[in-house]
Amino acid sequence: MDISIKIKDTVFANPILLASGTFGYGSDFVSVINQVGGFITKGITLAPRIGNPAPRIYELPGAILNSVGLENPGALDFRNKILPRLNFSTPLIVNIAGFDTADFSTIVKILDCDRIAGFEINISCPNVKTGGAIFGQDPKLTEQIVTEVRRATKKLVITKLTANFIDPVNTAQAAESAGTDAISLINTLYGLAIDLKEQKYFLGGKTGGLSGPAIKPFALFCVERVSKAIKIPVIGGGGIVNATDVCEFMLAGASLVQIGSLNLINPFAAFDILKDLKKYMKIYKIKAIRQIIGKVRSNDDKNNTCG
Ligand SMILES: Cc1cc2nc3c(=O)[nH]c(=O)nc-3n(C[C@H](O)[C@H](O)[C@H](O)COP(=O)(O)O)c2cc1C
Repeated sequence: MDISIKIKDTVFANPILLASGTFGYGSDFVSVINQVGGFITKGITLAPRIGNPAPRIYELPGAILNSVGLENPGALDFRNKILPRLNFSTPLIVNIAGFDTADFSTIVKILDCDRIAGFEINISCPNVKTGGAIFGQDPKLTEQIVTEVRRATKKLVITKLTANFIDPVNTAQAAESAGTDAISLINTLYGLAIDLKEQKYFLGGKTGGLSGPAIKPFALFCVERVSKAIKIPVIGGGGIVNATDVCEFMLAGASLVQIGSLNLINPFAAFDILKDLKKYMKIYKIKAIRQIIGKVRSNDDKNNTCG
């Protein structure tokens, strides 16, 4: 049974990635990180950021709204103080965010080293006032940022797109033509919570990013749509809670998947997902997990099997 997936030169032992912002920088729960296919850090910006004021999380049925605001130590401190302490063997992908289009390639130049397998360009953060999702809503800015990052590194470049108020097909195609190796989507969706008692906004940062099972059908829709429109691999995520969800994303066109909010409830969830993924492969006689990528059958096609 082969559950590995290769993208560019990076071999992921299995299709499960830990999503940015939901597992810190990778210094805790190393036993989990060593079992998954890849680890993605919390977003790193050029300068350190203290993030948004509390409260930062609003819980609701089937979802959470977060407004962390990209709190992080900045690229230099991450490189000098955190990176040397990360001793897991799983491919390490650094999620990078910027407030100016030039920030992204500057961060990559600071961080590019053997320890890192690749970068995930976050042009989809809904929790900052400048940059973030605003870059990712514009195909021209997307193309410019990806082109600059592509020039700055030979490593794996993943572009994480927003699906807020735009059709991600356009930005995915822009990122593809600028040389990204893969697309990841979706990041969180815009959301707002109101504190009725106080009659004010609940979150300290006013708006937040919606994640968790409630966004899964929309995320699946986006993954299917984008993967049909580009040739490079798609990394899918949004609301994954079990191996069934993983398979659905892969059938819809994802080569790898990201587990996000689930980690906040159970940091060991990836273990169960991996175990169940292997069971699923056994039941459906799937020899290599890559065989199911994009193999969702059309409703009138009775002969097309993915096993
Ligand atoms: C608390 C929190 C912090 C996040 N921080 C980041 C981040 O720094 N960079 C990023 O690209 N995505 C960030 N995300 C988005 C996740 O990586 C993921 O794309 C999103 O939550 C959807 O997946 P999920 O529904 O499985 O959580 C964050 C999500 C949460 C819940």
